[in-house]
Amino acid sequence: MSRRPNATRRIGDGGSIPFVGTLHSRAQTSPLLSIGIFVVGALLVVGYLYHGSGSRSGDINSLSRLEGGVSCTLEVQKIIPILKKTYGDSMKKILHVGPETCSVVSQLLKQEDTEAWGIEPYELDDADASCKSLVRKGIVRVADIKFPLPYRPKTFSLVIVSDALDYLSPKYLNKTVPQLARVASDGLVILSGYPGQQRAKVSELSKWGRPAKLRSSTWWIRFFIQTSLEENESAVKKFEQAVSKNPYKSACQAFHLKPLH
Ligand SMILES: *[C@@H]1O[C@H](CO)[C@@H](O)[C@H](O)[C@H]1NC(C)=O
Ligand SMILES: *[C@@H]1O[C@H](CO)[C@@H](O)[C@H](O)[C@H]1NC(C)=O
Repeated sequence: MSRRPNATRRIGDGGSIPFVGTLHSRAQTSPLLSIGIFVVGALLVVGYLYHGSGSRSGDINSLSRLEGGVSCTLEVQKIIPILKKTYGDSMKKILHVGPETCSVVSQLLKQEDTEAWGIEPYELDDADASCKSLVRKGIVRVADIKFPLPYRPKTFSLVIVSDALDYLSPKYLNKTVPQLARVASDGLVILSGYPGQQRAKVSELSKWGRPAKLRSSTWWIRFFIQTSLEENESAVKKFEQAVSKNPYKSACQAFHLKPLH
């Protein structure tokens, strides 16, 4: 009989006052608990500050992630002028595929008359603000390149892929590389590491799926023949000429393939 009014009052009073009361009395009865809360709070603050400093130094952060190893994605950024000399007008609509693609896409977007898109094959768990904005605008996509790409044939003039293929087994390469050559109208550039080079740290392996398999140029050329991909001799020549006039020291092997249509 007396339950009803009680229940109504509880709902009516509900909100902050009884809750604060409970917390207060608990804190009084258990100093350990309040110390615990303080420690957790302090850890959260430290964690927040640490995270903040990490994203402010975005570039350094992404560099150090590949610490001790070669990054061909970094190399793509260095050779943009060389690629321009090699491909001229074909540098107008570019798709870059590879880890840290945001850094390449931002660099390409700074070039005159160049549109650029990116596919990031791995999670973007610590992307900085400018990268997040590229993702929001749909310029950079996170997509597993083992599966069909969401683009029509010849969508891009040039497709550049760095590092990502070193992490795929031949079974997936068989599908992915011809697909990349199909969405390009003028060419596909592959940058890949040399055998024996040190790659991403072991701690990155869960993210990257499997250890990098760095294949020799003989392996790649045999692979291109098997999958009916042809090297573009004229592009190879122009690229080598441009490289020879440059102080740039190559840390990656570059292949220039004709599109597949
Ligand atoms: C890849 O394709 C080539 C040619 O079609 C074939 O000879 C080879 O066995 C394939 N490799 C794998 C791992 O499926
Ligand atoms: C080969 O590459 C050059 C750029 O150096 C390009 O102009 C030409 O269209 C490409 N040829 C083919 C068949 O893809």
